[in-house]
Amino acid sequence: MHANTGVDRNEPYVESLRIEDAPTGHATQVAPSTTDPDWWRTAVVYQIYIRSFADGNGDGTGDLAGVRSRLAYLKELGVDAIWFTPWYRSPLADGGYDVADYRAIDPAFGDLGEAEALISEALALGIRTIIDVVPNHVSDQHEWFAAALASAPGSPERERFWFRDGVGPGGDGMPTHWVSEFTGDTWTRTTNPDGTPGQWYLHLFTPQQPDLNWNHPDVRREFEDVLRFWFDRGVAGVRIDSAVLLVKDPALPELPENPAPGEHPTVDRDELHDIYRGWRAVADGYPGARTLVGEIWLPDIDRFAKYLRPDELHMAFNFDFMGRPWDAAQLRDSIDTTLAAHAPVDAPSTWVLSNHDVTRPVTRYGRADSSFAFTSKRFGTPTDLELGTRRARAAALLVAALPGSLYIYQGDELGLPEVEDLPLDLIQDPMHFRSNGVDPGRDGCRVPLPWRITPDGLGFGPVGAGTPWLPQPADWAALAVEAQESDASSMLWLYRETLRLRRAISELAAGEFRWLDAGPSVLSFARGDGFVHVTNLGDGAIELPTHTDLLLASRPLENGRLPKDSSAWLRTQH
Ligand code: GLC
Repeated sequence: MHANTGVDRNEPYVESLRIEDAPTGHATQVAPSTTDPDWWRTAVVYQIYIRSFADGNGDGTGDLAGVRSRLAYLKELGVDAIWFTPWYRSPLADGGYDVADYRAIDPAFGDLGEAEALISEALALGIRTIIDVVPNHVSDQHEWFAAALASAPGSPERERFWFRDGVGPGGDGMPTHWVSEFTGDTWTRTTNPDGTPGQWYLHLFTPQQPDLNWNHPDVRREFEDVLRFWFDRGVAGVRIDSAVLLVKDPALPELPENPAPGEHPTVDRDELHDIYRGWRAVADGYPGARTLVGEIWLPDIDRFAKYLRPDELHMAFNFDFMGRPWDAAQLRDSIDTTLAAHAPVDAPSTWVLSNHDVTRPVTRYGRADSSFAFTSKRFGTPTDLELGTRRARAAALLVAALPGSLYIYQGDELGLPEVEDLPLDLIQDPMHFRSNGVDPGRDGCRVPLPWRITPDGLGFGPVGAGTPWLPQPADWAALAVEAQESDASSMLWLYRETLRLRRAISELAAGEFRWLDAGPSVLSFARGDGFVHVTNLGDGAIELPTHTDLLLASRPLENGRLPKDSSAWLRTQH
């Protein structure tokens, strides 16, 4: 037992809990057993972007106190786990993905004691906690980087990073011309103590995020220790940031024009698998199935699946689905490819409609091009929010009916749109600045949640709290939790009902997946013998297949027919 936690790592997790009737009158929800070793295979994971979820201390920034005060909301929503985006001490040069201390909570969010209390309180409600670990880079305020800057070229302190002399006269040229994930250069020059230009260091993201050298044993040891630090405190899993970027080719070649698999100098290097085998061994040393989920953006699905072999990561985000437009053939192809790639490694697929980096679904699905790509984000792209909301409702049912685990980004259950008119002087995302203002950046999906119909922050903080760190649109009162809780046609009701049924319908956990023939613009499939899902992506309403009960529909039927851009869940036998 760790001195501070109250969580005994050798005891099984608490027994399964019965969740009492929700105040809205929804039927009783039963939480799954928290001792189930396979909990993650079908889990519903809710992503909390902590700065924007709920502000407990009234300073305008979300915090742990805010999350603790809203655990009942998450229980009622029906999630199995919460994933926190980084909550560590950080100068917030990249929204917390620039970590200064992996073992400390940022004072703006709370402290370690509060994090430990939150982990236990959530678990007592049947909700596990997943944290975000950022292994590719640290903050430039991290003690290792400060020590490296203070040490001479060639020193052991610099070996933990990628310091190199520049090329050409005076070392003025960058060691490579790799392009940053956030556009722009990947090398920044240091200044020597005497004021002369010094060595360069590598950063695949911003200069405030120096890349670690994963060939160095200290780095490997340190992160395995960070995992233990948090597993000791009862966390059930780790989301691995930028999981395929860690290892670099030490020869630092320029990027080949068409790199063969494994040949890219910074992406998907073969050595990564050994690192994750080490992480898996750490996770497997703990009771209660502690899991690893990778943020893996790779177009090659077979290379992607290699990370999910039984002794590596448990899961990885399926971004392919998010990259597809609202089109039956495209979505079907993505589902087929995903399921086929996961089967041989016996890993569950994950289904992700959005996260803190991408355009909110109700906005994206209302566009002429409803696929997501970082490269196409521009100010002023027209959106039909009513259409987008209709499709996002249909998509919510679709992904919840597919085999595997489901990731929900905070606010999607409220149908929040992307905020595309934030005052430019309030934007904080480095993606916006590094694109010279061409890319609107990611703050539009990070706007603080509306909880109440009251003015002044829509209940994001307590009464009299400071202004939320990003302003909420005035018309978000209609989307506030308080407004939606009393409206059975709201997105929140749809999500609650979807998750309640998902848990109650045994076929959705274990039933075999089988496509049904329903025409080119309809996605219809069975799970097991008694359940059928239908999404209508065509131009008009369609007949539903034979069924005994309509369990749920994302829109009311029209004369018994399923309207376009809607989904339905059907029971086909008792
Ligand atoms: C991941 C995160 C993103 C962050 C980046 C750098 O892609 O999801 O928010 O900016 O890594 O850490």
